[in-house]
Amino acid sequence: MMEKQVLDPACGFRGFYFNKSDPRVLFGDIRREKQTLCDGRELRIEPDLQIDFRRLPFADNSFSAIVFDPPHLLRAGANSWLAKKYGRLEKDSWQEDLRAGFSECFRVLRPSGCLVFKWSEKDIKLAEVLALTPERPVIGHRGKIKYPFHWCLFVKGHGDVRS
Ligand SMILES: C[S@@+](CC[C@H](N)C(=O)[O-])C[C@H]1O[C@@H](n2cnc3c(N)ncnc32)[C@H](O)[C@@H]1O
Repeated sequence: MMEKQVLDPACGFRGFYFNKSDPRVLFGDIRREKQTLCDGRELRIEPDLQIDFRRLPFADNSFSAIVFDPPHLLRAGANSWLAKKYGRLEKDSWQEDLRAGFSECFRVLRPSGCLVFKWSEKDIKLAEVLALTPERPVIGHRGKIKYPFHWCLFVKGHGDVRS
């Protein structure tokens, strides 16, 4: 099997992939399920591996790139279509969960590897989330569809060097 260079540990429905079966990517998610959205469309969450980004089952320095798009919703109802589509954060543990997610992603990322982080500010500001990792992004891009969302690029340093 081809070695996977990219890890997406919260791939959801693989929405932003040009090729949803890209052989370079290991697609992970905590869920494996089919959902029907409010407009009748079927949403399939079908990861290659069912994994928890808080405890990744990979050795240190395993991937050249990581795509990290964790849930960003705190106030969505459990049965809302937004929660079905994107998952949601736990009110009492979201900081710990995302802190552990960043920490695990940077652990399995190779030195000089890139991590692309996506965040929507519907319920929580980007600055609050970036405070959960000691790593600093190199660049960021802000967009807006309904709510502001951000793409950030991190590069993993070597040893103790923090960017
Ligand atoms: C914002 S969505 C990802 C959307 C995805 N990028 C796409 O384009 O379809 C976040 C995903 O994280 C998953 N998730 C939530 N908690 C997780 C965890 N602890 N470990 C792995 N995946 C998790 C949810 O099931 C959800 O599919």
